[in-house]
Amino acid sequence: MIDEKAIQAAQETYGKLLREQLERVERLKNEGDWVDYSKLDKLIIGVCGGDGIGPYICASAQLVMEYLLADEIKAGKVEIRQIDGLTIERRVEVMKPIPDDTLEELKKCHLILKGPTTTPKKGDPWPNIESANVAMRKELDLFANVRPVSVPELGIDWTFFRENTEGGYALGSDGVHVTEDLAMDFCIATAQGTERIIRAGFDFAEKNNKGYVSLVTKANIIKTTDGRFLDIAEEVAKDYPDIKWDDWFIDIMTAKLLDEERRSDFRVFVLPNLYGDILTDEAAQIQGGVGTAGSANLGKRYAMFEAIHGSAPRMVAEGRGQYADPSSMIKAVSLMMTHIGKTEEGRKLDMALDVCSQFERKLKMTGRDTGATGDEFAEYIMETLQRDDLEKVWKSYINKA
Ligand code: IPM
Ligand code: MG
Repeated sequence: MIDEKAIQAAQETYGKLLREQLERVERLKNEGDWVDYSKLDKLIIGVCGGDGIGPYICASAQLVMEYLLADEIKAGKVEIRQIDGLTIERRVEVMKPIPDDTLEELKKCHLILKGPTTTPKKGDPWPNIESANVAMRKELDLFANVRPVSVPELGIDWTFFRENTEGGYALGSDGVHVTEDLAMDFCIATAQGTERIIRAGFDFAEKNNKGYVSLVTKANIIKTTDGRFLDIAEEVAKDYPDIKWDDWFIDIMTAKLLDEERRSDFRVFVLPNLYGDILTDEAAQIQGGVGTAGSANLGKRYAMFEAIHGSAPRMVAEGRGQYADPSSMIKAVSLMMTHIGKTEEGRKLDMALDVCSQFERKLKMTGRDTGATGDEFAEYIMETLQRDDLEKVWKSYINKA
């Protein structure tokens, strides 16, 4: 027996979702240009600790951020604001992925430094509300999730441009239990949303002389949305005749990242949301683990910088929060510096991170009291940044490796 009523109820939900997405498309058509940070009277940076180890590693990264922006802060050109309320307890209390008052505060900032937040899943003690991350990316239209991974000694220099507001994530909390036996999720690709992420990847490749862009989809199977992604890439690529590009399927690309012969050829990847989520964890593992990777979530008006890993509540439950490694959040600070045009600071911070966590390792992070605390590590980074011979030291390690 076909349950016609269930079909009708699902169709109504479907209709509502379509309407919302088409309204969104209209907004995308009218979106403004990228904010020019140099033209602002004052740059406002919100700091949101998040859950679990988030507040610990975020505070350590904030020390480094304030060190690098000390002159601007003193001159009143940069203001740092602590933004509370993004905790899982608070989100559950108001049953929203981001409480309204917190969202309002976030929207008054230009940039956000955000610690990991707990994402409830089915079976957790928390109600299964939408992820704060995903909600923030959507609310602030942070469409480009930029994730660099570099292992100089292996010739790896990758930058991932993960689409951040569409794909399987856009309606990830709006799927339909059509009947007890049939569940359906949705995956979306808009022309505008697809074009802007692909263009961001190609622009980056052009500006940074990367010369090569790889599109990653599963367009042989997910024919409509991924097919659209690929079609648009073909069009966009015509505007960048000097950049070589190719397309790969996600399954073989996960293998190629492990192919020592081939992987160092890749430079820039552009990919839909879910594939980007998965492939960047794999790439980060090659670099030394998800704890080493930072992530820039860029939109034209707002930008948010975060770790790519979760909130590790167990570490805090066991009283080890202060020993969590803040490298990923410090990497997020380097991405922030580059984004606001302080490229030299970003580059130096990257070198200091390599020196402190991979090469010199005067302090070891063990995640417990046998190692250093996150704040001690941040101090070590700041001392290293002050070294006149930082670049020389960094190069000597790279050449030795
Ligand atoms: C990431 C994370 C998030 C995602 C989670 C926490 C919602 O895995 O930033 O990659 O899936 O995007
Ligand atoms: Mg992820």
